[in-house]
Amino acid sequence: MIKRQKYHLEPDRGLLNDPNGLVFYKDMYHVFFQWNRFEKNHSYKEWGHFTSKDLLHWNWEGSALLPEQFYEQNGVYSGSALIKDGQLRLFYTGNNKSGGVRKSSQCLAVTEDGKTFQKKGIVLSTPTEFTEHFRDPKVWQDGDNYYMVIGAQMKNGRGSVALCSSKDAENWKFELVLAKSKEYEMVECPDYFQVDGQGILLYCPQHRDNERDSSLCSFSAYKEFDFNDIVSGKIEDSNVQNLDEERKKMDQGFDFYAPQTFTSPDGRKILFAWMSRMEEEEEKLFGEGESSIHCMTLPREISYRNGELCQLPVRELEKSLCIHKISEQERQSGEIILKNRVYCAKLSNLQNETSFEIEFQNREVILEYKKVEKIISVKRKNWVTKDYDERNCKIDSLETIECWSDISSMEIFVNQGSKVFSMRMFTEEENGKVKISGLMKETVVEMYDLMGEGEEKNE
Ligand code: FRU
Repeated sequence: MIKRQKYHLEPDRGLLNDPNGLVFYKDMYHVFFQWNRFEKNHSYKEWGHFTSKDLLHWNWEGSALLPEQFYEQNGVYSGSALIKDGQLRLFYTGNNKSGGVRKSSQCLAVTEDGKTFQKKGIVLSTPTEFTEHFRDPKVWQDGDNYYMVIGAQMKNGRGSVALCSSKDAENWKFELVLAKSKEYEMVECPDYFQVDGQGILLYCPQHRDNERDSSLCSFSAYKEFDFNDIVSGKIEDSNVQNLDEERKKMDQGFDFYAPQTFTSPDGRKILFAWMSRMEEEEEKLFGEGESSIHCMTLPREISYRNGELCQLPVRELEKSLCIHKISEQERQSGEIILKNRVYCAKLSNLQNETSFEIEFQNREVILEYKKVEKIISVKRKNWVTKDYDERNCKIDSLETIECWSDISSMEIFVNQGSKVFSMRMFTEEENGKVKISGLMKETVVEMYDLMGEGEEKNE
């Protein structure tokens, strides 16, 4: 079974997890990521590196930040990028576990060519309020100030997001606890940004067994968050925001974690996430024959509409679509056969549909819509039991669906990305197969081959 992706980022060997240091610097997009280049497990972490001029064609740059120093000897963990005075600054967590005792340090590395990196050492140690689960700095500039959000665990064993600030993006101080969770024991990979006039806090709540110091389960969430309240001093420790209230899911599907955003030169907010949920079953599927495990999601443009954070594949990807003409026979049978598993299906004008089903790759993944119940559901065949696992969500009405399939993944964007289902899918089937049943005539179905021959898409 071939699993290597055609247009999703994945390293040539080892294990990929979180996107790190996303930035557009000196005419290049940079995607760094958590990388174990030796094995397909989490026993070692450095930063790997991809670059691109157009978010479509990618160069593999290899290693960027290696665990060389004492404070990071057990992993150059996740972090982010900031451009200051023409220099690219990478902030990350140095993980040290000597003697089995965890010690986290927030660290800085700089570069002026985007290829050679100079370590500047520790810029912040863990404040006394927190345990050593203190990691994943995301940094941004606001006027004359620089801010950093960090995923943290309070001394009482509950998850939180810490806010730090700096005047020079070099000397950092802890400001306050930005938000706290009562339900979760840890928060990983926070991000704060403004999009379409709305402040958004992204974060990954995590259940941990604090006694055994092991992660149990986690997912990616967001909530509307007004940062001005903090700058103007309205948020103090006494009225810290609750991370569990008004929390919304970032993804309705199976495999999506640790998203990070950055701003493109034309001002768009772009997001990448790790397309995995760290399931052991998935790791077992990647045997000796596979050189690497896990990949990124597609780069996605994000927007804020009608109270929802929406995600759609970046518009640059449209350039790689080649129309697949739907034949009369395909139209009648509802079954469309593509050259391979690298394709895109777009359905629009769905307002009047009452119930229909789309099967992908001989029922490996099944999407179902039921208007009366206002439910859209996605079932994926479980790799071990061969039964289906199901995820669903409520929608008031249905207008559009876009499905982007690669060799071993599927990303489904509903209603211009207001709901997204991301997942890996592993199948023997070589061709792409999409079977649609129950559709009425008004619905427009467009099929595209991707990165293939076929006809160019007419703009
Ligand atoms: C999230 C995470 C981060 C950490 C990194 C280590 O997936 O656990 O909190 O920095 O991965 O690889």
